[in-house]
Amino acid sequence: MRFSGFNKYRVWYIIYRVVFYDRETFVAVTLTTQELAKIEAHITTHKNMPGALLPLLHAIQDDLGYVPEESYPYISKALALSVAEVHGVVTFYHHFRTHQKGKHVLQVCRAESCQAMGSEKLEAHIKSALGIDYHQTTQDGAITLEPVYCLGNCACSPAVMLDDEVYGRVDAQKVAELISEVQHG
Ligand code: FES
Repeated sequence: MRFSGFNKYRVWYIIYRVVFYDRETFVAVTLTTQELAKIEAHITTHKNMPGALLPLLHAIQDDLGYVPEESYPYISKALALSVAEVHGVVTFYHHFRTHQKGKHVLQVCRAESCQAMGSEKLEAHIKSALGIDYHQTTQDGAITLEPVYCLGNCACSPAVMLDDEVYGRVDAQKVAELISEVQHG
């Protein structure tokens, strides 16, 4: 392969950044300035608390709507944890999401009572209808799909929650109505 003078240096620079990139420089580029400022403010508020990690993650998600993976190095440095430990806690709790949520959040109950009443079939139908998996957002940014483990509505299983509203005895038709309402409403 032949490169012109400019391109040759640019290619080596890209290789350098990929192999030896400075994590914090990279992070500063991918997070917006406002997001970074908010994350740093929450770290400052929480870092000296005992058991600071969970309250800090909640604060970041409440403020930004998600916990960006790019925040892990900042959190790990402030709390003297490894990035892997921060990642492990975020992914252990289904409550936390690592990507910006859509305009609406559709949660599908996967707990026992709902499973007994056919939630597995229902969730397969919802994934297919939206064209996404759990923890993903539709291309138009309208709906984020999340699993949940009991909505306290077991008597009316299977149940889903759309934003703050819980719906019971949900079937494919009801889901189609809900999706249509938020996509066209
Ligand atoms: S198990 Fe689904 S609402 Fe309780």
